[in-house]
Amino acid sequence: MRISDTSDLWWKTAVVYCLDVETFMDWNGDGVGDLQGLAQRMDYLADLGVTCLWLMPFYPTQERDDGYDITDFYGVDPRLGTHGDLVEAIRTAKDRGMRVIADLVVNHTSDKHPWFRSACASRTSPYRDYYVWRDEPPAEETAPTFPDQESSVWRYDDKAGQYYLHRFYRQQPDLNVANPAVRDEVAKVMGFWLELGLSGFRVDAVPFFLETLGVDGGEASLADPHQYLRALRSFLGRRVGDGVLLGEVNLPPEEQLTFFGGIDGDELTMQFDFIAMQQMYLSLARHDARPLASALLGRPPTSPDCQWATFARNHDELTLDKLSEDERQEVFAAFGPEPEMQVYGRGLTRRLPPMLQGDPRRIRMVYSLLFSLPGTPVLFYGEEIGMGENLAAEGRLAVRTPMQWTAAKNGGFSTAAPSRLTAPVVEGGFAPEHVNVDAQRRDPDSLLHFMMLLIRRYRDSPELGWGRFEVLEQPHDAVLAHSCTWDDACLIAVHNLGAEPRSVPLGGLDASATLVDLLCHGATAVGQDGSVEIVLEGYGFRWLRVTRPGDRRLL
Ligand code: GLC
Repeated sequence: MRISDTSDLWWKTAVVYCLDVETFMDWNGDGVGDLQGLAQRMDYLADLGVTCLWLMPFYPTQERDDGYDITDFYGVDPRLGTHGDLVEAIRTAKDRGMRVIADLVVNHTSDKHPWFRSACASRTSPYRDYYVWRDEPPAEETAPTFPDQESSVWRYDDKAGQYYLHRFYRQQPDLNVANPAVRDEVAKVMGFWLELGLSGFRVDAVPFFLETLGVDGGEASLADPHQYLRALRSFLGRRVGDGVLLGEVNLPPEEQLTFFGGIDGDELTMQFDFIAMQQMYLSLARHDARPLASALLGRPPTSPDCQWATFARNHDELTLDKLSEDERQEVFAAFGPEPEMQVYGRGLTRRLPPMLQGDPRRIRMVYSLLFSLPGTPVLFYGEEIGMGENLAAEGRLAVRTPMQWTAAKNGGFSTAAPSRLTAPVVEGGFAPEHVNVDAQRRDPDSLLHFMMLLIRRYRDSPELGWGRFEVLEQPHDAVLAHSCTWDDACLIAVHNLGAEPRSVPLGGLDASATLVDLLCHGATAVGQDGSVEIVLEGYGFRWLRVTRPGDRRLL
């Protein structure tokens, strides 16, 4: 592959790190994380090996949905800083070789957004048609996203004298993207932040806003809602040639393909692989790698420019909605049996390390697996040090606790009184005195050092982002052996999801090759018959680079 074919497609091999400025680092001591605090921690992120920061919403908000209810698409939440602070943070990131993307939340606004207020005030408001209205809710309703909080997606507004659509909380009226004026606003919002230095967006709730195009008839020209996604992508490309759209589309694989724009790949650049994530947890619960392997093999073929984003945890509930009821109960029983660990009947509010009882072998095995899967890995802040959750915080907020920098008060996140913190710090076995950046930076055996090694190796191995994925035959259900091959580069990864040690025979290899361990010292020569035997401890794993005589790659 020539450089000219690949250099702009940075997202194929990126390491994405998601953080909420509000809970990352408080520099002015008011209890709320801020952009200056983020800028101060940029060297830490660069050192970790991150190449792309994803900032959760930093816009002015009513805080009904943790920033996803926006009152001004062009603003910066004054608690976090100013536009100047944001530009400084972006510049500091770029200076260290990191791109920055941010949430683009255009399915809805806050109900306190001036557009919605004006829309409610009068039927003749120019903003009335920015939202979706009805005199009566339809007989057949779609299910609300937060079923414990909302019983309908239609809500009557007294002032407006009509029902408005809201697929999320009632405080988040859905925008009517079928209205060309709304589509113009969305383009302006994107253009604005791109001019300030963003390299693209994590696009929130994509299927929802495309669906809105159909809700009230849309325009004839948008009979195919995907036309709108294509338009957004080409707009982005015109403004920032190598900009990225990383979409949240939790749908079955064949439907996800349509959000990539089919094989043409002219819609979303990347999508989270929610299916592989859910099957991975089923695999972990069963100590059986087969569900994960099937999910990976079931990915539809996509354009080489598109990419899957792999993840073990994000800021929302760990959704298990695409498992069968029995499978979901299996995962609940293994990783979150208590009612306070579950939410919406479909997800878990825990982080990975507590789910695995803090077992360092298993935690490392999962991250090794994650970084070895074909795709681009996305980390949620604090995963690199093995943070836990605070189940006393409501629902999804359990995993949105302050970043744990030191063992000191508030985990070094803020000097404010604990009662003033924007979110409660984790308590118990995963509290900052046990889990923090400071201690792990100085301990070469820490999870943080291990994650830095994984990230370095991932970045050394473009075949993981670009390559052809194959599941290698071997006899153990608990083991996933797979390879990624790209041009003449090939990486084999072997993971044991079970507690028993296992010896894994692999065949069909080049007899002149040597498999060089990338995560530890070691090398295994392939036998004359083209086979090798790889030994794994319980929950053991190996990354093996296939090298041949004369290879010039640095190992
Ligand atoms: C996405 C976000 C979630 C938010 C919702 C509504 O699913 O990930 O946190 O609540 O959109 O904006």
